[in-house]
Amino acid sequence: EKEGYDHYMMKEIHEQPETFRRVMTGRLHEDAVTFKEFTLTDEQIQNWQHIDIVACGTAYHSGLVGKSILEETLQLPVNVEVASEFRYRNPRLDAHSLVILISQSGETADTLEALREAKQRGATTIAITNVVGSAISREADQVLYLWAGPEISVASTKAYTAMLIALYLLAFYLGDRAGRFNLADHKDLLEALAKLPDQAESLLTEAKKEEIRQHSQALIDADHLFYIGRGSDWAVAQEGALKIKEISYIHAEAYAAGELKHGTLALVTDGTPFVAIALQEKTFEKTLSNVNEVVARKGRVLCLLKEGHDKISDDLDKRIFIPDCLDMVAPILAAIPLQLLAYYTAEARGCDIDQPRNLAKSVTVE
Ligand code: F6R
Repeated sequence: EKEGYDHYMMKEIHEQPETFRRVMTGRLHEDAVTFKEFTLTDEQIQNWQHIDIVACGTAYHSGLVGKSILEETLQLPVNVEVASEFRYRNPRLDAHSLVILISQSGETADTLEALREAKQRGATTIAITNVVGSAISREADQVLYLWAGPEISVASTKAYTAMLIALYLLAFYLGDRAGRFNLADHKDLLEALAKLPDQAESLLTEAKKEEIRQHSQALIDADHLFYIGRGSDWAVAQEGALKIKEISYIHAEAYAAGELKHGTLALVTDGTPFVAIALQEKTFEKTLSNVNEVVARKGRVLCLLKEGHDKISDDLDKRIFIPDCLDMVAPILAAIPLQLLAYYTAEARGCDIDQPRNLAKSVTVE
């Protein structure tokens, strides 16, 4: 069933061009986004005053990226929270609330309980999930399926990127219907999504994988590593760090790049390894200056950049490029090299990639 791959994780990483297509099929059009499965009225949508995104782990990380897009298209405040925190803090919810629950399995206990709490308090609930008929899909008011196919590897890969695409589609759709984001004026965003499957293919060639495998060799003896970025690059960093922790057992910490000098820079000495994500034009120069602060203290930095954005200084010879794309969709493409980096690091360390110690695919205990 692994179709020639050594692990399900690698198989699932490779399925991403196809899962990108699947989550968009029938929903993404040249100048519109549709969700035939939704039964939301305009009145309901216009009535929302705030949004909560609630999820765990990797699904939570997808929500961090979704937040800024939903804020932009719906012009409403969006709070993103891990389900085990959200449900125990008496969240302010009412008939003006939208709560988006994200869960690959649709069975995560804390996310399910957060959904129940939200419904009880009168919020509208939308579930983004991969598993048809799962508890969360049965109980949510509206369901957006990822159609990513079964994900066997404990480390989530294709479901994560499908969640990102689903969140973008949802943000465009709701913003357009609310009359606050005219999609017909933003065809470039829709085009950028349509290009993703082919761009993902280009990140999965044997040559590209070998390049990333080589970079992983510099990490295999690390005890700790930092992933830094700003804005959505920071969200990407958090997912990158989780992936390498769970499968390679190297401690990794994701840090908002601008926060380094508020304490953490004290940890940087000769050879301290960093992965820097610098994909957003708006913060590129700022992140670069953080990278230089690390390099000045002899830290080692591997940079994730967009093709064409190679103005970064030459002494930073460790770089991985993703295809040129709109900044907004960069987190989706960035996921792939970071998944591969974690995979090859774990492989070189002899870890059990598909079944990391202490972890279960679906967390049905609270
Ligand atoms: C990490 C991972 C977990 C899950 C989390 C939520 O790779 O897979 O962090 O993302 O347990 O699971 P779901 O999405 O099924 O609710």
